[in-house]
Amino acid sequence: MSFIEYQNDIKDGDTAIVFLGHDSMFPIKVQHGSQTQTKYGVIRHSTDLIGKKFGSKVTCSKGGWVYILHPTPELWTANLPHRTQILYSTDIAMITMMLELRPGSVVCESGTGSASLSHAIIRTIAPTGHLYTVEFHQQRALKAVEEFRDHKVDHLVTVKNQDVCKHGFGVTGIADAVFLDIPSPWEAITHAKSALKMEGGRICSFSPCIEQAQRTCQAMEENGFTEIDTLEILLRVFDIRTVNMQIPDLGKGEEDTSAAECDENRKPQECAKKQFELQGTVAFKTAVSLKSMSGHTGYLTFATKSLF
Ligand SMILES: C[S@@+](CC[C@H](N)C(=O)[O-])C[C@H]1O[C@@H](n2cnc3c(N)ncnc32)[C@H](O)[C@@H]1O
Repeated sequence: MSFIEYQNDIKDGDTAIVFLGHDSMFPIKVQHGSQTQTKYGVIRHSTDLIGKKFGSKVTCSKGGWVYILHPTPELWTANLPHRTQILYSTDIAMITMMLELRPGSVVCESGTGSASLSHAIIRTIAPTGHLYTVEFHQQRALKAVEEFRDHKVDHLVTVKNQDVCKHGFGVTGIADAVFLDIPSPWEAITHAKSALKMEGGRICSFSPCIEQAQRTCQAMEENGFTEIDTLEILLRVFDIRTVNMQIPDLGKGEEDTSAAECDENRKPQECAKKQFELQGTVAFKTAVSLKSMSGHTGYLTFATKSLF
């Protein structure tokens, strides 16, 4: 298993996602002799997982079942152990496109945080690109190194434990793109500029507050960045429901004899009920937006460093 290549069979040491439902899944490290508890009973790694195919339906000890999924950056983002606030797939999708990331891209990022975005960048730039990620919190930096090794992507990423605002990214003139998710990104803009290639590249900074975005835009302008754009992405999720709707009464057709049944001999309630039955209902599937919607995550400020 690797986060950049699909593999059929589950092996000892792999990371897998135990899927109980869309709102209930968690990652596990598959290990000979290990067991994982679920509400449907225990999963024994040696007999239930190792050698089985990713995507298999696995029966747990109490008779219930779960699916075992191959990890992807999106599933990892939805299930990773949080060491910090993280970026989610909606923002990540926009960042990937607007930074023009592709196989072979060289990217600088800070801070690494919980490495949610890092996994998505690595998957996009593989197999020939490289990510330089900077995190000044030592334990977080070390944990990220361990995860990248576990997920077999460590050859595509270098983790540096330093302050990006003071010491930059540790590389000069090689990056196609720079991404910042730190409290004071405006202090890292000159370092971002020197990390980018001479001929130019793209930058993105993520900030929850508009004042941070304003200061970052100013710093970008002072450093000669162009095409400065700040935007926010909001996700609307829909549920598919079966809805029963009453067919509207558009008047009685000529062949409709039901009117005769609603004469003065009937009680008004009975008459109304009869007419409703005759009118009937229609059942159809429709998309209904969820009652609550995830709110503001942050502003994304994009800009370009150009040769001229
Ligand atoms: C919000 S988290 C980043 C989350 C990350 N984008 C993700 O998707 O998991 C911000 C991280 O930046 C680190 N950080 C803040 N200021 C920094 C600086 N000046 N240099 C390096 N790292 C910094 C923090 O320690 C924290 O881990």
